[in-house]
Amino acid sequence: MQNKTVLTGVKPTGTPHIGNLVGAIKPAIELGNKVLEAGGRHFMFVADYHAINAEKDPAVLNQKLKEIACIYLAFGLDPNKSVFYRQSDIPEIPEITTILFAYTPKGFMNKAHAYKAAVDKNRAAGKPDDDLINMGLYTYPTLMASDILAYDTDIVPVGKDQVQHVEIARDIAGMINAHYGKELLKLPEYSLTKNAVLVPGIDGRKMSKSYNNVIPIFADKAEIKKAVFAIKTDSRPLEEPKNPDEILVYEIYQAIAAPEKVQEMAEGLRQGKLGYGHIKNMLLDAVVEMTSEAKEKYEYYMAHEKEVNEMLDLGASKARPIATKTLERLKNAVFGR
Ligand code: TRP
Repeated sequence: MQNKTVLTGVKPTGTPHIGNLVGAIKPAIELGNKVLEAGGRHFMFVADYHAINAEKDPAVLNQKLKEIACIYLAFGLDPNKSVFYRQSDIPEIPEITTILFAYTPKGFMNKAHAYKAAVDKNRAAGKPDDDLINMGLYTYPTLMASDILAYDTDIVPVGKDQVQHVEIARDIAGMINAHYGKELLKLPEYSLTKNAVLVPGIDGRKMSKSYNNVIPIFADKAEIKKAVFAIKTDSRPLEEPKNPDEILVYEIYQAIAAPEKVQEMAEGLRQGKLGYGHIKNMLLDAVVEMTSEAKEKYEYYMAHEKEVNEMLDLGASKARPIATKTLERLKNAVFGR
């Protein structure tokens, strides 16, 4: 991590849940802080250009962007240390994208997961392959490559679904460098957030808004309680010793609570001293504890939009000069200036 540049983008779609929090948001902030401590640079941005491919309502976009920005701030992203900005505030990004297009084989886009998934969905529904697929979705990985390459990024922390995109960015950069015989663009690497905890949803499937099985982050306690108490259990009596690893409440607890607390729950279950009501209350307490301090900050930021916008403007003012240099380097090479 010594002197490395780490960059993460997050699409402002959907309201994040506990699974996103422990699986992506917290690890991203922690990694960023680690990189900064080691003398590196941390870029964190809201990918609003990527979002417009799917979301056409400006009011919704704006609200989602605000929520995402406030969540990262609430959980400790420091906009004075990390470069925290809106993608759409960096006009150099689409400019770089246009140059990358000239070096990006169309076949790369045909193979990209997001596009292929959309085609598969159309086929399954008996619709034409490209029904409702816009060029933004089709060329998504090239814009993402520009996001990454603009800042000489070394490392892009990603979940499995984004690995291919970072590889495409690396391949495009490699082809441009090879063509001009010099390192115009830094080759990025992905780092798979494999240790990141996967939180099951309250029905045991992956926690996901589309399954309607999430535990919310900033809802009021009654609503969180409703979700926690809806977690699937069976009808075994309290006294019956249970294997904690087979109990969904425990699995979720593991992803959230401190190790000694997790231990306590495991022992209570094995010894038949804790019933489902107990462990659900323990989980509820853990969720509230993990989010209560951040909740106050979140509410503060949500109510102080101007402050948040100023932070994002500050981030853009730090990001732009770097992207500008990359763009100039590319233009000089491409146009022989
Ligand atoms: N594609 C990413 C996602 O859907 C978001 C993203 C856009 C991104 N540009 C990026 C992530 C650059 C990392 C680096 O989650």
